[in-house]
Amino acid sequence: MESARITIFDTTLRDGEQSPGCSMNVQEKLRLAHQIDRLGVDVIEAGFPIASEGDFAAVQAIAATIRRPSIAGLARACRPDIERAWQALKGAEKPRIHVFLATSDIHLRYKLKISRQECLQQARDAVKFAKSLCADVEFSPEDATRTEPEFLCQVLEAVVEAGATTLNIPDTVGYTIPTEFAALITMIRRRISNERVMISTHCHNDLGLAVANSLAALGAGARQIECAINGIGERAGNASLEEIAMALRVRADRYPYYTGIVTEQLFPASQMLSDITKVPVQPNKAITGRNAFAHEAGIHQDGMLKNPLTYEIMTPQSVGVPDSKLVLGKHSGRHALGLRCEQLGHQFDRRELDEIYRKFVVLADKIKHVQDHHLLELIEHTQSRSRRVPPAHAEARATAAAVGSRSSSFSELPSTPLPLSSEHHGEQEDYLWGV
Ligand code: KIV
Ligand code: ZN
Repeated sequence: MESARITIFDTTLRDGEQSPGCSMNVQEKLRLAHQIDRLGVDVIEAGFPIASEGDFAAVQAIAATIRRPSIAGLARACRPDIERAWQALKGAEKPRIHVFLATSDIHLRYKLKISRQECLQQARDAVKFAKSLCADVEFSPEDATRTEPEFLCQVLEAVVEAGATTLNIPDTVGYTIPTEFAALITMIRRRISNERVMISTHCHNDLGLAVANSLAALGAGARQIECAINGIGERAGNASLEEIAMALRVRADRYPYYTGIVTEQLFPASQMLSDITKVPVQPNKAITGRNAFAHEAGIHQDGMLKNPLTYEIMTPQSVGVPDSKLVLGKHSGRHALGLRCEQLGHQFDRRELDEIYRKFVVLADKIKHVQDHHLLELIEHTQSRSRRVPPAHAEARATAAAVGSRSSSFSELPSTPLPLSSEHHGEQEDYLWGV
C-alpha cells in the first residue's frame, strides 16, 4: 500500500502557549519558531494576532523570517480578528488564516448566545472575508465532537463553498474516543466530496486520548494533524507532536503514512521549549522525558547491554537524545555494575564483583541512585582486592566528568566514610552513563 503524506500543523506557539505557565515573549517565540522550522513541520500556527500586541508582533516577526512552512494566525469568525490576523501574516511566504467558530449547542446557547442559523451565516461570512484576503483559509468548528453531526456537516459544507481549503475538526474538550472520532471523520469525508479540501484533527488530551484519537482519524481520511511539542496546550494539552511523529515512524508497518518531521530534532525542540518556559518535561513523558531511554531494573540493564533491541523500540539517537542511560540503583544487576566499574577503570573477577555488588546494594538502598563518585569510593574500600586497569583511568576520569559526577578525578574523592546518607544530588546526576 502506498504511504500518504501527513501534514503536521504545529500549534505550540498558539494553543500551546495557552497552557498555564507557558507564555512566551516575542524573542522567545521567534527562537522556538526557528527550532520548529528545523523540525520540518508543514504549518506553524504562530499565534492569535488580535489577542495582544505581543502576539501580533510575534506572528509578524515569524511570518517575516520563517519562509519554508506555512505560517498560520488564529482569528475568531469576525472581521476585526480576520483583519488583524491578515495584517500580521501578510508578509509571510505562505500565509494561512485560521478562522474558528463554535458549533455545539452548548457553546451556541451558553457562550455565544446565537442560534444555529446565525452560526451558519457567521461562519460562511467570515470565511468568505478571510478568503478575500488570503488564498489559504482553514476553518475550525470549535467543540466539533459535541456538535450535532448533521449541523456540523451543514457548517462544513457552507465554509467549503465560501473558500475554506482545510477543515479542522477539533475535539476541543478532549471528550471523544478513537472509534467514535474515526467514525465522525469518515462521515465528514463522505459529505465533503471535494478532494482538494484537507480534513484535519485538533485533539485535546483531557482523557489522555489526544494522540490515539489523532491517529485513528488518519485511517478515516484525515491528512493533517494539529499538535504541540511536549503536548502542551489548554488544560491537559494537545496531541503531542513527538508522540505522533514517532508512532508513525516506529509503526510504519501499521500506519501507511509519513511526515516531513526530522525526528532527530524532537529532543532539542522539547528541551528548548522547556528551557524557555521553565516548565519541566514530565520524567516519564514518551519520547522526550528524561526516563524515556533510562533503564534501572537489573534484568532490563542486562538485556540492554546484550542488545538494546530487548528494551528499546527506537534508538535514542533517532529522536535526538544523545544516548541511553543505565541508572545505577537498587534494581540494578551485576552486569551493569561490572560494566560501570570497568568504565571507571576497575576490573573485578566474579568473587570481587560479588563483594562490590553486596556493598553497592546496601548503598543503593540508602541513597537511591549511586553515582560515579559513590561507586569509586566504594571501590576504594575494596581496593586491596581489586586490580586497577591503568590505561582506562584517563578515560574513566573524562567519563565521570562528562556525566556530571561531583568528583571527576580520584584525587578529589572524599576518603571516608562512605556516603551512606540519603542525600540526592539532583536530576542531572540521576544519569550515570550512556551505553
Ligand atoms: O481546541 C480548539 O477548539 C481550538 C480551536 C481554536 C481550533 O483550539
Ligand atoms: Zn485547542
